[in-house]
Amino acid sequence: MAIRKVFVKGEEILTKHCKPVREITPRVRELCNDMIDTMRDQDGVGLAAPQVGVMKRIFVAIPDREDEDNVYVMINPEILEKSGEQECVEGCLSVPGYVGHVKRPMTVRVKALDIDGNEQEYEFSGFGANVICHEYDHLEGILYTDIARDVMTNEEYDKLLKEKEEDLKRKMSVKGGMSV
Ligand code: NI
Repeated sequence: MAIRKVFVKGEEILTKHCKPVREITPRVRELCNDMIDTMRDQDGVGLAAPQVGVMKRIFVAIPDREDEDNVYVMINPEILEKSGEQECVEGCLSVPGYVGHVKRPMTVRVKALDIDGNEQEYEFSGFGANVICHEYDHLEGILYTDIARDVMTNEEYDKLLKEKEEDLKRKMSVKGGMSV
């Protein structure tokens, strides 16, 4: 087990197109396991190889909120199909302290090699599709801040949520407590 250093926005490697993995060697497996450890250590739901300074097409992800023990390792992933649309609130271990609103597909179908080199095909919707698209973008050198509608600090976002909540309460009290 090894925790690796997470590179943050401003580092050039996060803007690079990553290279396919040619062979799943013990070193590649070690990298995958270290990425899982690093993701868990930082309470993340996804981590891509360039975030730990390696320009390879690999990411690890926890796309199912209900099953956080289920970690997916995706090597040379390809997005086969995207459908629908959703607005997501995203953060990134490489952009600490910030969140932003990003439009993502509602459903994605993805093909990838697992850690044993077996080709797998998956379909994810909602949160899972969001996580997979975010991680996939890292392999293309794209950070969510490059495509977000807005980016704000965690504090600003908390304030925004509170304002929305108060606004809703006010509206409800005008309507005599009816939830409409
Ligand atoms: Ni990220």
